[in-house]
Amino acid sequence: MAKERLDKALSSLGCGSRKEVGAIIRAGRVSVNGQTIRDPAYRVTPAEDSLALGGQQLRWRIGRYYMLNKPPDLVSARVDNLHPTVLSVFPESERRGLFPVGRLDKNTEGLLLLTDDGGFCHALMAPRRHVEKVYVALVSGRMDLSAPKQFAAGMTLADGTVCRPARLTVLGEEDGLTKIEVALKEGKHHQVKRMVAAVGGHVEHLKRISVGPLRLDERLQPGEYRELTEDEVAALRDAARGKASADE
Ligand code: URA
Repeated sequence: MAKERLDKALSSLGCGSRKEVGAIIRAGRVSVNGQTIRDPAYRVTPAEDSLALGGQQLRWRIGRYYMLNKPPDLVSARVDNLHPTVLSVFPESERRGLFPVGRLDKNTEGLLLLTDDGGFCHALMAPRRHVEKVYVALVSGRMDLSAPKQFAAGMTLADGTVCRPARLTVLGEEDGLTKIEVALKEGKHHQVKRMVAAVGGHVEHLKRISVGPLRLDERLQPGEYRELTEDEVAALRDAARGKASADE
């Protein structure tokens, strides 16, 4: 795990602003692994070093879980040289260690999970876990009438990519486009767009509305996020665990 400055680490643990914790450190009130450190620039390893303030042990807060209503134009990555990432919606003090759970395309909107818990991310994303993700899309062009059947049977795309059986439901018409719902149990690159293209449609707009048992909180405007409740985290863990053990 990457090291970071002691004042930054203390600040992200909620001990005060960088200026405030700088003064606290210089006053000799902070120890790292039992040794008093007076240099705010001293480097610590989050989750590994033991920090104390005024003799009180501080707990690294690992296990943060958020749902973001991803707006278009943000890249699902920690860093990107060209575009702002999904981390940009979080204040700097909350970004430490956070990463997106899987990816949505830059122009895809909707439910994106972020966490600092690698095990949780792996459990949800491992292909054998088959956690279902549901998308709503607006599609132009004429989709084959047999599209739902083709999705249900699974399909091999022109480049040889094999897609597992999926569910396509036509919801109706909106602004001259066909509104569909697609449920996938895997997450291949541009999968919804490519599967829809294979049945004659073109995805004009794509939004993810659920991951396993978790639905996007409709109160979240694009760009807004909230912490998951303990029950929501537990339900996601169960979803990942349930399917894995059924398949193993
Ligand atoms: N399928 C896509 O085509 N794009 C996404 O962002 C997610 C699923």
